[in-house]
Amino acid sequence: MREIRKAVLPVAGWGTRFLPATKAMPKEMLPIIDKPIIQFIVEALIEVNITDIVFVTGRHKRAIENHFDYSPELEEHLKKNGKEKLLKEVRDIANLINPIYIRQKEQLGLGHAVLTAEPAVGNEPFLVALGDIILENEKEELQRMLKLFRRFGNSIVALMEVPREEISKYGIAKVREIEENVYVIEDLIEKPSPEEAPSNLAIVGRYTFTPTIFEKLKITKPGKGGEIQLTDAMKLLLQDEVIYAYKVENKVYDTGNPTDYLKTVIEFALKREDTKEAVISVLKEIFEDEKVRNLT
Ligand code: UTP
Repeated sequence: MREIRKAVLPVAGWGTRFLPATKAMPKEMLPIIDKPIIQFIVEALIEVNITDIVFVTGRHKRAIENHFDYSPELEEHLKKNGKEKLLKEVRDIANLINPIYIRQKEQLGLGHAVLTAEPAVGNEPFLVALGDIILENEKEELQRMLKLFRRFGNSIVALMEVPREEISKYGIAKVREIEENVYVIEDLIEKPSPEEAPSNLAIVGRYTFTPTIFEKLKITKPGKGGEIQLTDAMKLLLQDEVIYAYKVENKVYDTGNPTDYLKTVIEFALKREDTKEAVISVLKEIFEDEKVRNLT
């Protein structure tokens, strides 16, 4: 019962901050250079032995389904042109997982998206990973979370420190530290003002849940923004079960809005050997431009 095999990836949001790019494609399919955001997450999930990935999809279901499926015409084309490396890459993506697709008929919020996955998850613990967040060394962070789950058998939440001015963008936790960087959650508040916030520890978008969360989601009333919030269901869960948390040690990349997405793309490009030098030279060129200097 303590081994987690299933992960839920909610990818049904409107992605309004990314319109018009997200009109026909979920924001989780936006590329970080040449790989969609969602693929980074899926690869890390596989590395920690998650076998079943439940995508909670919306009306852009097809782009995700096609991405994790075989593509005979494309494969034939690559084969004919001797592009063996690319051929292997596109094949490997399809071989990565056993995907399960569930449609969230109405975008009623993240909590509702997780509840929609219940028929595929059943009565067992599962992981939730938000598709618009990438963690550096994701495998290591997921391993830490799963280790804590094996130890406690309770729901686990990843937290990160955020600057005061960003507190109101996140779900914030009130915690009691039980050992270095490991906590018991005492309370949770969705998007508080800095004055209301009990700490600067924000929910990252990586969770492990006991199936009790489904019972709580069923009785969660719409909260901030009129949406069924996962944080509110977790508050209800706190009445019955202890929720543990840990602070992530690696960098968290938000890709859910254009500015942070752009920053993520540049940082990833600077980390990749094949793009690093070109990006540095482009950035230099831009900043040496008189007109740009006058803008800053
Ligand atoms: P966000 O609030 O970041 O996504 O939800 P959004 O609503 O698509 O973005 P904006 O605010 O309109 O720009 C966090 C995650 O939950 C999913 C999103 O796809 C995202 O991965 N989500 C959100 C759902 O699957 N269903 C929902 O009803 C809401």
